[in-house]
Amino acid sequence: MSVFLSLLLLFFTAPVSPSSSPDRYTKSLPSNHKPREYLELTRPLPSDFLVPSCSKQILRHSFADTINAPPFSTLYSPPSNCLSPWSHVALEFRAESRGEQYDRIAGLWLGGAELLRTSTAEPTRCGIFWKVRKDITRYSSLLVRSDLNLTMMLENIVNHVYTGVYHVTVSIFYYKDNTVRSPPPSLISERVNTWQGLGGLYDPPADFIIPISDRGDKGFWFRIESEDVQSKSIRIPRNTYRAVLELYASFHGNDEFWYSNPATSYIKTNNLTTERGNGAYREVYVTIDGKFVGSESPFPVMFAGGVNPLLWEPVVAIGAFNLPSYDFDLTPFLGMLVDKKAHRIGFGVTDGISYWLVNANLHLWVDHSSRKVKAKSVIYESPRLKIKRKEDFKLLDGSFKVEAERKAKFVGWVKSSLGNLTTISSQNYRLKNTVRFEMNGAYKFVKQKIKAVRYVKVLSDLGSVISWFSVHRRYPLIVVTSNLPGPMKKKDTYMLVTNVSHVLKERYRQKSFVSIVHNVQDSEGWMMVKDHSVLSGAATTKQSFSYRDDFRCYTRTVKSNDGKLIKDKTTSACLSSV
Ligand SMILES: *[C@@H]1O[C@H](CO)[C@@H](O)[C@H](O)[C@H]1NC(C)=O
Ligand SMILES: *[C@@H]1O[C@H](CO)[C@@H](O)[C@H](O)[C@H]1NC(C)=O
Ligand SMILES: *[C@@H]1O[C@H](CO)[C@@H](O)[C@H](O)[C@H]1NC(C)=O
Ligand SMILES: *[C@@H]1O[C@H](CO)[C@@H](O)[C@H](O)[C@H]1NC(C)=O
Repeated sequence: MSVFLSLLLLFFTAPVSPSSSPDRYTKSLPSNHKPREYLELTRPLPSDFLVPSCSKQILRHSFADTINAPPFSTLYSPPSNCLSPWSHVALEFRAESRGEQYDRIAGLWLGGAELLRTSTAEPTRCGIFWKVRKDITRYSSLLVRSDLNLTMMLENIVNHVYTGVYHVTVSIFYYKDNTVRSPPPSLISERVNTWQGLGGLYDPPADFIIPISDRGDKGFWFRIESEDVQSKSIRIPRNTYRAVLELYASFHGNDEFWYSNPATSYIKTNNLTTERGNGAYREVYVTIDGKFVGSESPFPVMFAGGVNPLLWEPVVAIGAFNLPSYDFDLTPFLGMLVDKKAHRIGFGVTDGISYWLVNANLHLWVDHSSRKVKAKSVIYESPRLKIKRKEDFKLLDGSFKVEAERKAKFVGWVKSSLGNLTTISSQNYRLKNTVRFEMNGAYKFVKQKIKAVRYVKVLSDLGSVISWFSVHRRYPLIVVTSNLPGPMKKKDTYMLVTNVSHVLKERYRQKSFVSIVHNVQDSEGWMMVKDHSVLSGAATTKQSFSYRDDFRCYTRTVKSNDGKLIKDKTTSACLSSV
């Protein structure tokens, strides 16, 4: 605990009832500035240095009181003046808002396949705006079509208290050739989008994409509220020789801060009203016809109203504007799928409580020289999840620990006109989580470490390695919240001192090409709160994002203080080791 906090606790010794913090809040602060730009630190897209052949605005809509309404849909068509093939396609999502509003989750789908999962920043009275750019070349087989709806879901509530309307425009930039805009040509060749998992898996883009999603009347995501599995039945072409599932998942309601949930016994013993329990282990898994084929413990994205909204202005948390998706190479399972019959692809959340929004895109590559392939799954190693839990508490103080480990390896061969190729897909991860309460439950410390390693190897008939990708990821997280009573004169207010330290380290390897992302964000602040409204407070966030590979480096370091960016430095020089 910091000296500052210990001092504060000395002044406010009266016990405070434990809240279910971290929680989500809105900012009810006066503001007096020009509309401000919000941002998430990411690396530039490969196409940022190219001149687009054309661009098209494909959506423009204001999301006001959209709760319980169907999503917004509009017919998409590619631009007529620069038809495919495209070397790159980039999506640009822009939003602006003013007033008071919660953060909102949003999804954007083309023909039911998700292009972007994003969450909104929380506006101020003077207004804010931001943009999100994403490489969407992998969706080329959908982007060439003109018979699909583009659909966006953003459930928002507008009334006399929550006044923020989200005004959104989405444009697409299409690149036909590699005309370089400015920096050196070494920047253009590469299409690996590290933050998006095994990005190299989508080069070249798939021939078909089958959405594994819900009907769409409430957005195409499946809403998973408990341990149930939601699924969709599909049939795939018999000449499919590769299959990659791209999974999108976000967590909300009682599971928004799943990594900080104590065991349900703590809530029951102490007669607490919060329903944020069920422990701090979650895992999203995928099934084919009920059989487990992969899982991921998701990156804990913090939305803009989470923990302390003042921490996330104007720099939002890692992944908040462009939530990560997770790739599963399902090629080893083609033996089960290429038989002309329908198969069920399902999703579930281990220990999940209400609610998770999950759907996926199944990317398929087909053999143009044959009508069907031969395929067989030969190795299926998927031991049960190893999990150890320890709880030790007396009334409101104590600790909860979880240690989990998952290993899986799948091997299958596919014989097509490309030869008889064997795919080996391996997924391992480990999670360690501690949730600790002190000061009669008013001080809460959460620490989580996730380490994941995945690789995909493809072998020829003769056993030589044709391709090889691997991703190592680590995402340690610390969240500290300390609940103190507010000043005597202000009834029903309380003060929260908050600290969040979050890291994403990713090492991607494709044969001899290596790239490394190191993204570190440290935030601290306090706020005075009434119900869920932030009345006053202060916050500082420091972040450093660095990317490097065999050819280039990129580092951006920022610092924000009370809503203003007070430092912003970018370099592309390759200094010492990352
Ligand atoms: C908050 O984070 C800072 C920087 O990492 C650290 O020095 C401080 O002790 C933390 N405060 C608490 C209450 O954990
Ligand atoms: C597109 O959406 C509109 C409005 O929801 C709907 O009437 C139409 O059938 C949809 N078209 C396609 C191709 O899905
Ligand atoms: C919770 O409620 C039960 C039944 O009303 C009561 O016996 C128990 O003492 C309460 N526990 C605490 C920690 O307040
Ligand atoms: C493809 O290769 C695997 C592994 O070498 C082998 O077991 C299998 O029989 C081959 N399939 C065909 C159709 O040749």
